Amino acid sequence: MNVLMVCLGNICRSPMAEGIFRAQAEERNIPFHVDSCGTANYHVGESPDIRSIKKAAEHHVDISTLSGRQFAPHDFDRFDLILTMDQSNFRNVIQKARQPSDRDKVKLILDYVSPNESQEVPDPWYGDEEDFETVYQLLNQAANKFFKHHFNA
Ligand code: 4NP
Repeated sequence: MNVLMVCLGNICRSPMAEGIFRAQAEERNIPFHVDSCGTANYHVGESPDIRSIKKAAEHHVDISTLSGRQFAPHDFDRFDLILTMDQSNFRNVIQKARQPSDRDKVKLILDYVSPNESQEVPDPWYGDEEDFETVYQLLNQAANKFFKHHFNA
C-alpha cells in the first residue's frame, strides 16, 4: 500500500505522520510505503520544523532526514490513499483531482479515529510544545486505527 500524508507546509504535521506510520508499519512487519507533501510551496527542500523533529524523537521516531515538497496531480497516480490533516488541505487536494477515482483516494486522516466527524489535526505552526504533543498523539491514534482497519494488525 502507498499512502501520501498532506498538510499545508510539509514541515510540521505531515512529516510527523509519515514518520509515525512508517515506524508503526515496521513494528507490525507490514510492507508499506509512505511519503508526505504540502499543498503550499513555502518550504520546498527544507527539513521538518525543529519542533516536529524533537517531538517525534521524544517518541523514538526519526524524521530529521525528510525534505519538504509540494503536492502535484501525478501524486494521484503514485498513491492508493491520500490522507489530509485538515479540511483546507482536503479541499486543496480535491481541487486538483482530474477524475472521480482521484477524489476517492482523498480522506481526512482523523476519519480513522472518529468517522464522519470531520475532525482536524490542528496546525501547530503558531503553537507551543503542547500543541506538537497534541499533533503526535492524534497521529499516533490515527496510525493505530489505520493498521487495525486495513491490516487487522
Ligand atoms: P504544517 O504547518 O502545514 O503542519 O507543515 C505549517 C507550516 C508552515 C506554515 C503553516 C503551517 N507557514 O505558514 O509557513
